[in-house]
Amino acid sequence: MDKQNILIIDDDNKSIHLVTSALNISNLYNIHFAINAKNGIEQLELREHSLIILDVNSPQLDANETVKIIKNSSLQNQIPIIFLSEISPAKPFRKEEFLRKVKRNIKLYLSRKKQIEIDDTKILLEQYKIATDAGSLVSKTDARGIITYVNDRFCEVSKYSREELIGNPHNITRSPDVSKDTFKDLWETILAKETWKGTIKNRAKDGSPYYVESTVMPILNANDEIVTYISIRTDITSREITLREGILSSQKEILNTLGELGEWRSKETGEHVTRVSLFSEMLAKAYDCSEEEIQLIKMASPMHDIGKVIIPDNILLKPGKLTKEESLVMQNHTLYGWEIFNKSKNALLQAAALIAHQHHERWDGTGYPRGIGGEDIHVFGRITAVADVFDALTQERAYKKAWSLEKTLDFMKDESGKAFDPKIIDLLLENIDEIIEIKTLHTKE
Ligand SMILES: [Fe+2]
Ligand SMILES: [Fe+2]
Repeated sequence: MDKQNILIIDDDNKSIHLVTSALNISNLYNIHFAINAKNGIEQLELREHSLIILDVNSPQLDANETVKIIKNSSLQNQIPIIFLSEISPAKPFRKEEFLRKVKRNIKLYLSRKKQIEIDDTKILLEQYKIATDAGSLVSKTDARGIITYVNDRFCEVSKYSREELIGNPHNITRSPDVSKDTFKDLWETILAKETWKGTIKNRAKDGSPYYVESTVMPILNANDEIVTYISIRTDITSREITLREGILSSQKEILNTLGELGEWRSKETGEHVTRVSLFSEMLAKAYDCSEEEIQLIKMASPMHDIGKVIIPDNILLKPGKLTKEESLVMQNHTLYGWEIFNKSKNALLQAAALIAHQHHERWDGTGYPRGIGGEDIHVFGRITAVADVFDALTQERAYKKAWSLEKTLDFMKDESGKAFDPKIIDLLLENIDEIIEIKTLHTKE
């Protein structure tokens, strides 16, 4: 225990000497002196004292007035006061008894002070809890990752009830879109008894996504063992969705523009890539692709001919029929397109690479560049092939008139199982009204 400060207010040297020598024996105290109330207050303001000893017999000191002044000075009104009464042969100074009294009073003061601190901390913690509960999703899991506590906000955002969450593993709210590496990093960090911070996409009970900024802390016991994990998260769904939508729409615009560039060099119209994109989206929906796949093919299919930017003009723009060699050069646009994007790890550019590579492959395995067939051709390649050819045939080009819808559909049916996946041709025919509507909406007169 630190040495405690004691203030002696006395103007009688004889009493001071007795008291001081008694206190000094124990070597537990720092002793300070004051000769009157004013001087006493000054001392009390200088440092914290655990006890005041006041000589009630001091001729110059009005004890009652002094006590009143000290008690009224709000900062020190908790300090115990020992009154030193008259010392005479009839009433000698009993050192042992005095020291016991000093000890008891200081102990009382310290325990009262401790209690006040505990109460203050409790009030503060309660306020923290209220503030945290109002804004954050709080949960606790045991060392195995089983949920042991969730607050109301967690239930509200995740749309699960408390009963559905408690007792279940925390991955109940995990989104399949979050990479395994993220969770590996999280576990490695908290198992190393450190705090993990990061943004995570979660999945609510109804399947909708929500984004949280997470802080996960391990709580250790006295033996330095992890007993529980506490997670505090801020819901940032609206901010994150706005941000992601912004990025997505600019990515979409860039890819469309790049796609148009490829088509523009071969004198196609920009509307062709838009229509291929929308047909592909519609066919992917009809094919029961996942929402993510539908978005990927919609955004990546405009890039199918991007490799044409590398084909020389004398071949790309040749009005007549291409020679065998020229045809082979032309076919390379599939490889160039693939090479442009395939090094990227971005899912969208990976899809663009795949579509550029595979959109001239045929279901019967006689297409190019690799001659793969059937379902070895990715569904993105198979769908884009149908969308691209359908649009090219029904559109007028410099060197040919537009085919009628009937003639085009006859051709597509005829090529079902040859050039095209029969299932996708069936879907095209089943949804032909919608296809025509897209075509009309996205074709200038
Ligand atoms: Fe092509
Ligand atoms: Fe095309």
